[in-house]
Amino acid sequence: MATERTLSIIKPDAVAKNAIGDIIARFEKAGLNVVAAKMVHLSEEKAGGFYAEHKERPFFNDLVGFMTSGPVVVQVLEGEGAIAKNRDLMGATNPKEAAPGTIRADFAETIDANAVHGSDSPESAEREISYFFGNDEICPR
Ligand code: PPS
Repeated sequence: MATERTLSIIKPDAVAKNAIGDIIARFEKAGLNVVAAKMVHLSEEKAGGFYAEHKERPFFNDLVGFMTSGPVVVQVLEGEGAIAKNRDLMGATNPKEAAPGTIRADFAETIDANAVHGSDSPESAEREISYFFGNDEICPR
């Protein structure tokens, strides 16, 4: 399997629960290396731009409101099959449907506040990584 990079965001609910370390430990134990990371409090403009593809969805304003409600930790994860591996670790979008042992099952309660984001395709990963990081902020391992 090819080495890939994916964008991960630890969302405001998980940051508020002091779950940053536990979540990153899961990535590392699964063979995903953190090659870039920063904590940021997103502006409405930055969050709205990130989720622009969902602009017409009924939940868009709630999603932007939630993502700007507190700081987030944005990371680039690198490893074999990183995009799918991260999605497996995260679990289903709705925590009530997430498999036991996944991040969303263990750290999230609702679909509005679901602990983590992960890129869903190589194209999204490329766009999302460059939305948050310049090449000089990524440290290959
Ligand atoms: S889709 O159709 O697969 O693109 O949509 P999905 O991946 O399910 O959701 C896209 C992001 O929107 C968030 N979401 C919601 N936020 C608030 N309220 C509701 N009802 C809701 N439904 C979905 C969901 O958590 C996704 O955020 P990210 O950060 O991409 O995981």
